[in-house]
Amino acid sequence: MFDFNYYTPTEVIFGKNAEEQVGKSVKKQSCKKVLIHYGGNSALRSGLIDRIKSSLDDASIEYVLLGGVVPNPRLSLVYEGIELCRKEGVDFILAVGGGSVIDSAKAIGYGVASGGDAWDFFNFKRKPSACLPIGVVLTIAAAGSEMSNSCVITNGDGQIKRGCTSDLSRPRFAIMNPELTMTLPAYQTSCGCVDILMHTMERYFTPGGNMELTDGIAEALMRTVINNARILMKDPTNYNARAEIMWAGSLSHNGLTGCGNGGNDFATHRIEHELSGNYDVAHGAGLAALWGTWARYVLDNIPERFYKFATRVMGCAESEDIKATALEGICAIEDFFREINMPTSIKELGLDLCDDDLAVMARKCAITTRGHTGSAKVLYEADMLNIFRGANK
Ligand code: NZQ
Ligand code: ZN
Repeated sequence: MFDFNYYTPTEVIFGKNAEEQVGKSVKKQSCKKVLIHYGGNSALRSGLIDRIKSSLDDASIEYVLLGGVVPNPRLSLVYEGIELCRKEGVDFILAVGGGSVIDSAKAIGYGVASGGDAWDFFNFKRKPSACLPIGVVLTIAAAGSEMSNSCVITNGDGQIKRGCTSDLSRPRFAIMNPELTMTLPAYQTSCGCVDILMHTMERYFTPGGNMELTDGIAEALMRTVINNARILMKDPTNYNARAEIMWAGSLSHNGLTGCGNGGNDFATHRIEHELSGNYDVAHGAGLAALWGTWARYVLDNIPERFYKFATRVMGCAESEDIKATALEGICAIEDFFREINMPTSIKELGLDLCDDDLAVMARKCAITTRGHTGSAKVLYEADMLNIFRGANK
């Protein structure tokens, strides 16, 4: 077992009508003015933004609004948000939406509180020294940003998608009502389920993994997401299934499923960020398109981990042949991805890419990762290109 720090300062307010408590929760933060930050249309259409405004009005809290966050959130809106917060004297940001809105809120928070050019924090120039406090009303179970310390922004000039990691941005509270996720298109629900699985898989497939308790939590989480994703395919308004997946989404990326396991791999994430950054595909679908290729590429480095996953999560029978069973587990989760209408290759993702396109992505990924990524197998630019090529079918 490796040493670890586990830091989860986010208060979770979970359940039916939880969003009614938003005024009270913001009030506790003793702030003067709130930025309500949201996405395209869904939160307006459902009446959620109006309900949040009423709750803040009831608590006598002043606010301004900024909508328009798109999936793979853009730096240009972050700059706009920073300017608006400065002009209006905003000292708290309420993100109403999913990972894209929350990440945009975090980047605005860094920009306002740390000063200078916010892109510096994504461009390795500076580390943020402060962040405005953030609260979340979550509308999609996926990225886990509501409890995570990470923030991913796309710079539209050159489609550079980069992350910034700091505990400063962990939200103060996350309001989670599973009912709010019932309006999601089936595709987004599935993308979310893949992303949730992957946040734990990235922590599970590491060379360290020898902490039985953490493995048990991780395996239970993965089985829960798979079982409930299947339920939602048939019954998208099943409250309990929505609730299981929503809670799994937060626990999968707040650090819990990596405690003592020696850290992270996260290579599939780094490689996927090139697909969603360059071609604006949904992050979860991009992960599903790449994972099988990555898994076969690194399998020989940690076959026991893949065997454990196959037998304990995917229900494969135990056998003497570790590698064959490990491969069976990889095939089984690819079958599951197909079952929930997720792609298992770049072509199935809907992209028609030539070798030059793949080489550009591998180059950019190597720059973003400053040369290499992954721990199951350390991957360099040539490996990244091999994985893109392998998945381009
Ligand atoms: O913009 P609206 O109209 O709200 O539509 C959104 C968007 O089109 C829609 N949606 C959200 N809630 C809805 C809804 N539609 C109907 N009903 C609802 N209740 O769903 C679409 C996707 O939303 P988005 O916020 O983009 O999804 P997600 O939560 O998957 O976030 C993806 C982003 O998070 C990043 C990804 O790279 C990507 O940019 N990630 C952030 C992480 C973090 N900060 O910790 C970790 C992840 O690994 C990930 O990289
Ligand atoms: Zn992710």
